[in-house]
Amino acid sequence: MAREPLFDGHGRRISDLRVSVTDRCNFRCQYCMPADGLPWLERAEVLTFEEIHRLASVMAPMGVTDLRLTGGEPLVRRGFPKLVEMLAAVPGIEDLSLTTNAYLLERDADALVEAGITRVNVSIDSLQKDRFFQLTRRDSLPQVLRGLEAIARHERVWPIKVNAVALRGFTEEEAIPFADFARSTSFQVRFIEFMPLDGDHSWSRDQVLTGEELRAIIHSVHPLEEAPREPHATARVFRFADGQGEIGFINPVSEPFCADCNRIRLTADGKLRTCLFSLHETDLRAPLRDGASDEELESVIRDAVWRKELKHRVGEPGFRQPARTMSAIGG
Ligand code: 5AD
Ligand code: SF4
Repeated sequence: MAREPLFDGHGRRISDLRVSVTDRCNFRCQYCMPADGLPWLERAEVLTFEEIHRLASVMAPMGVTDLRLTGGEPLVRRGFPKLVEMLAAVPGIEDLSLTTNAYLLERDADALVEAGITRVNVSIDSLQKDRFFQLTRRDSLPQVLRGLEAIARHERVWPIKVNAVALRGFTEEEAIPFADFARSTSFQVRFIEFMPLDGDHSWSRDQVLTGEELRAIIHSVHPLEEAPREPHATARVFRFADGQGEIGFINPVSEPFCADCNRIRLTADGKLRTCLFSLHETDLRAPLRDGASDEELESVIRDAVWRKELKHRVGEPGFRQPARTMSAIGG
């Protein structure tokens, strides 16, 4: 039954939940994880499929219509398509999307579409094999491209997004290859500014290659025109002036979009995070496992969401990086 919509204390309605289904990953991207990985959660600490399903079922009647499954790398979680199937059956969930590095997508694409995935984002930071290896510390570009092809065979999940993290000293060289890729395929390419969520805690503002800088590089070769912005869209999208496709820029550091944020996040160990950069999180696993009723869970969630941060303070004096990395939060 429909409940009161979920609002934060700044008047923003929350309709998008991102669920990290595992903190583990088969890659070690420089901007996300240390080379040796991180101390993984114990299995008992990780929410079961039933627990994730329960929380989604409590939030959907409050107007959480969009669910994105992330990690770590979601496809390393055993039986993952089963979870997709369970969540696709939750009344009120309209959009059930996936963010993946695609390493296992060749294996799982058919099962995921069958289970009810509606949209897929694939992370690829370089289209050149050796540079892909350098950044992810895995020599896996061909495998990833096969995964991308496998999912693209399913028109039901089109358009598929390809996301690249933009790093100064690296991504400048990727700009034109990605622009050409966007122009010659049906994939929607998006550059994402590097955020202070890296495993080595070595982020600094000067390592961020801004969306505007990338736009200028691309514009000098393939002229661009800005497209109208969609509600809650995080990307600024530009069309190629000759009509050959589009390209987008997600600029959380240089142009924060917090005022329009409709998102919350659930970590693999059942903590609710109201911002990527939250220093405080709310435990939902304890009440779940202590037998809380739906009403009690709803009330804990509403209280936490009410206190959602007004905005992030990345780049401002006094900013503190959260202890968790992107892989332990979910992108
Ligand atoms: N800054 C920006 N994006 C990041 N991602 C991981 N770490 C960072 C970071 N520090 C991206 C991944 C993926 C998504 C889950 O988040 O590349 O696209
Ligand atoms: Fe894994 Fe994604 Fe982090 Fe890369 S960015 S290490 S693929 S979780």
